[in-house]
Amino acid sequence: MALFTFGLLSVGLAAAQVDYSQYVNPLIGSEGPFPGLAFGGGDIFVGAALPFGVAKVGIDTYEDNVTFSTLNGGFTPFGRVTAISMMHESGTGGAPKYGIVPQMPLTTLEGVNVLDNTTYWQRRVGNDTAQVGYFATQLESGVTVHLGAGKHSGIMQYDFPADTEKHVLVDLSHYLPSETGGSGCQVYVGGAINVQPGGKVYTGYTTVGGGWSESAPMTTYVCGEFEEAPDQAITFSGRLTDPVQRYHTWSNGPVPQASFGNSSEVSGPLNDRVGALFTWSNTSLLTIKSRVGISMISVDKACDFKNKEIGSWNLSATVDGAVQEWNAEVFSKIQVPTDSHQNRTNLVLLYSSLYFMHLMPSDRTGENPLWSNDEPSWDDFYTFWDIFRCTTSLYHLIQPERYISMIRAVIDIWKYEGFTPDGRSGNYNGLVQGGSNADNVFADAFVKNLPGVNWTEAYQAMLTNAEVVPYNTFSYTDFTASVKEGRGALYDWIPLGYVSSDRSTRAVSRSVEYALNDFSLSQLARSIAPNDTQKYLRRSAQWQNIWAHNITHKNFTGFLSPRLASGEFNLTDYNPALCGECEWSSISYEATPFEYSFTIPHDMQTLIQFMGGAADFERRLDYIFLPNTSEQDLGANGAGITTLMNIGQVLTFSAYSSLVLISHSNEPDFATPYEYNYLNKQWKSVRQSRSLANTYFHDDPYGVPGNSDAGALNSWLIWQMLGLYPVVTQPVYLIESPWFDDINMTINGNATLRITATGLDNADSYYVQSVRVNEQLWDRNWLEHDDIMVNGGTIAFELGSQPKMWETGEVPPSPGHLVL
Ligand SMILES: *[C@@H]1O[C@H](CO)[C@@H](O)[C@H](O)[C@H]1NC(C)=O
Ligand SMILES: *[C@@H]1O[C@H](CO)[C@@H](O)[C@H](O)[C@H]1NC(C)=O
Ligand SMILES: *[C@@H]1O[C@H](CO)[C@@H](O)[C@H](O)[C@H]1NC(C)=O
Ligand SMILES: *[C@@H]1O[C@H](CO)[C@@H](O)[C@H](O)[C@H]1NC(C)=O
Ligand SMILES: *[C@@H]1O[C@H](CO)[C@@H](O)[C@H](O)[C@H]1NC(C)=O
Ligand SMILES: *[C@@H]1O[C@H](CO)[C@@H](O)[C@H](O)[C@H]1NC(C)=O
Ligand SMILES: *[C@@H]1O[C@H](CO)[C@@H](O)[C@H](O)[C@H]1NC(C)=O
Ligand SMILES: *[C@@H]1O[C@H](CO)[C@@H](O)[C@H](O)[C@H]1NC(C)=O
Ligand SMILES: *[C@@H]1O[C@H](CO)[C@@H](O)[C@H](O)[C@H]1NC(C)=O
Ligand SMILES: *[C@@H]1O[C@H](CO)[C@@H](O)[C@H](O)[C@H]1NC(C)=O
Ligand SMILES: *[C@@H]1O[C@H](CO)[C@@H](O)[C@H](O)[C@H]1NC(C)=O
Ligand SMILES: *[C@@H]1O[C@H](CO)[C@@H](O)[C@H](O)[C@H]1NC(C)=O
Repeated sequence: MALFTFGLLSVGLAAAQVDYSQYVNPLIGSEGPFPGLAFGGGDIFVGAALPFGVAKVGIDTYEDNVTFSTLNGGFTPFGRVTAISMMHESGTGGAPKYGIVPQMPLTTLEGVNVLDNTTYWQRRVGNDTAQVGYFATQLESGVTVHLGAGKHSGIMQYDFPADTEKHVLVDLSHYLPSETGGSGCQVYVGGAINVQPGGKVYTGYTTVGGGWSESAPMTTYVCGEFEEAPDQAITFSGRLTDPVQRYHTWSNGPVPQASFGNSSEVSGPLNDRVGALFTWSNTSLLTIKSRVGISMISVDKACDFKNKEIGSWNLSATVDGAVQEWNAEVFSKIQVPTDSHQNRTNLVLLYSSLYFMHLMPSDRTGENPLWSNDEPSWDDFYTFWDIFRCTTSLYHLIQPERYISMIRAVIDIWKYEGFTPDGRSGNYNGLVQGGSNADNVFADAFVKNLPGVNWTEAYQAMLTNAEVVPYNTFSYTDFTASVKEGRGALYDWIPLGYVSSDRSTRAVSRSVEYALNDFSLSQLARSIAPNDTQKYLRRSAQWQNIWAHNITHKNFTGFLSPRLASGEFNLTDYNPALCGECEWSSISYEATPFEYSFTIPHDMQTLIQFMGGAADFERRLDYIFLPNTSEQDLGANGAGITTLMNIGQVLTFSAYSSLVLISHSNEPDFATPYEYNYLNKQWKSVRQSRSLANTYFHDDPYGVPGNSDAGALNSWLIWQMLGLYPVVTQPVYLIESPWFDDINMTINGNATLRITATGLDNADSYYVQSVRVNEQLWDRNWLEHDDIMVNGGTIAFELGSQPKMWETGEVPPSPGHLVL
């Protein structure tokens, strides 16, 4: 309630009453290029959740087409429902995580083995209903499922058909499996269930580890309650035979049967599965409702959350509360005209994107089971590699309180665990795809003066990342060095000045990422540890050590290239437009060296010079947007991407199936279309980025080009629609071209940034003719944070259908400029 009031105060009563949630399509990203399959899509969570909520209540499914299965968000378009569960990730690739603390409504027990979900799983009939804070689906059994969510809780309503039995199964050993196998599978470690006398309330816990982050086991406590007491409640336990490779013998023996008890079960030393089955026999009762709380700390806290957050058995009360919270805390932060003259598709893209970038990370403040202090606690950074570019920089503007809280939590993790995470879920650091990108998040927040953070401590945490080789956990993912946290290839980076291609994996991509991480250190060092500034500035230029000036590809000369520990480049058969599988063991990760060669935001000046000067740089940028420039075998990826430029698509099959990766790229290319600004040819940035947005983002289930990555892709689109692009680690925003003629953003808590545009008369009238910032004619295609993002202000665009080189001022800065 306090937060809602804050929303009213900040935006004014009339404005806060606009229900922006009506423009959210929660299914954008629920499908990939193959109709009906989640594979290659956004991997988004579909269900009920609050902004940054711990609980994300939705269905878990199983897809019959195992090779093309992707269960990461739980939901798949046509997968069979195996449960309704309380926790999910959104937008993540890799192996699934969570899908824990379930219920499943059953209309019969005939043929049901509670230990075998294939005996009760359900196809859905009709169309699902997905809205902000609400999800409904109908099972083939005739049961309609309605879901709502509180921050750590959910409410489920099951409408049973007349004339069927009514049961709810609670299988605490349930979790989202990785159908294709692999080392990232989750593992159930144990649990307990206790049904209170009368059967109305059950409590217990489930402990599950593994998943993409390769986490240690995490225990989640549960407290569930039914509105009506069941007529029968029996508990069960049974052997753990879930066919996860680590636990299963590939015997053809029958799935074991459970043994039943009356009130409580504990898994015991053999990891027995535990659960309970509730039955209602009153034939006039057709609706069964349940409310469930979860906690990482205790059953008591789980019960408290249930009682406080779901105060009514009326599901619509929870849903209405969620809609209010989403409007007040999220959607109303960016207000655009919603009258009938507006392009509804653009409204849907804007508000849906805001929705998806607020599903993760999860605010677990007060719910840290590992240590206790007064600091906030957050989980599900999945991952900074994905979100440091566009997502966290937008939190800074529109969610400053939450952002302070997140950053403090990350510093606290470093204090108690030794390293900041790059990825973290299940209260566990992992995995690191490139650099230690919490460094970039810290630097970006620091240079924009985020209050409430102890920057001395933040800098200490960054020093750990920069100087301490993390302990190698010998992950199956990449056993050459740590992928849990820190920078695994520091043993190259520090003595050699680059990541070598013979001693280290991902040598090219890690070299450029470590360079930006070190630039981040230099940004804090300027104030916190002035003596370190030069050292890290020098290290931020070390990408230059793997720049082969003499290699030419497609008439472009100079590329990031593999270099051996001996100092020699290894240019044997080297093609910078290829990265093999573009995976953990490849020369570069999820993008080619050609693409990574554009990712030096701190020293564009040197980069342009290395590429042969402005004209050649422009020619190279133009080139990557041309069709058929991708040399990777893109196979039948369905996305139709043939350009080297690729902001979204990553389609990988598990290494355990016989198929290989068929496409690549995504976040590393986020800033590239905007780099024409560094040539004072902003109109080309506008054209290329607009074209990417129009081609790949749609109000459709296949509406994002690949995994949404915890909202990273969605936040890229929001910046695009605002007509700005953040140069993270610097207090700088590139000026582009807005999609709306009037935008009011609530920034910095209570300031307003108003972005207006004239001339947006038709679809291709988006070239900037002139810009005024706080009424002053602006001659640069970039802004500084202080210009507009602290006290607010105005940016007034004049747009037209003709490209114009309107910039006469300085190009955007290269604060890390230094040639080694
Ligand atoms: C799985 O889906 C893919 C992509 O649509 C299709 O090519 C393949 O035939 C399907 N396999 C099965 C067994 O249905
Ligand atoms: C359901 O059963 C299938 C097939 O036995 C199994 O692979 C899967 O792990 C089980 N659980 C879920 C949540 O799908
Ligand atoms: C489900 O949605 C599709 C596409 O919007 C529509 O064609 C179809 O009629 C709907 N089916 C039902 C049962 O409502
Ligand atoms: C549960 O309790 C009931 C009534 O006390 C008893 O009849 C039944 O046998 C018990 N069931 C089990 C599985 O222990
Ligand atoms: C933005 O704020 C101004 C000043 O309060 C107001 O006149 C305008 O209608 C607002 N625009 C939108 C889209 O809310
Ligand atoms: C609305 O905008 C989308 C691009 O986001 C465009 O494809 C569509 O044509 C526009 N619709 C109208 C009616 O202008
Ligand atoms: C910041 O942290 C340092 C190191 O823990 C501590 O000495 C200092 O007092 C803190 N500063 C503030 C303002 O809390
Ligand atoms: C040099 O690169 C080639 C082609 O990738 C590779 O086969 C070879 O092993 C590399 N040489 C060394 C010493 O790493
Ligand atoms: C910084 O460097 C100067 C000159 O080398 C030295 O005198 C000073 O003690 C150093 N300060 C710190 C905090 O290390
Ligand atoms: C390119 O330059 C590198 C480093 O100066 C050198 O090792 C390599 O032999 C040169 N290759 C060619 C093809 O000239
Ligand atoms: C190759 O690049 C040069 C500039 O570096 C340009 O003048 C020439 O036209 C290009 N050749 C081709 C075939 O594109
Ligand atoms: C805006 O918020 C800041 C910090 O919360 C506060 O100091 C300031 O007084 C507020 N300004 C207004 C006009 O409410």
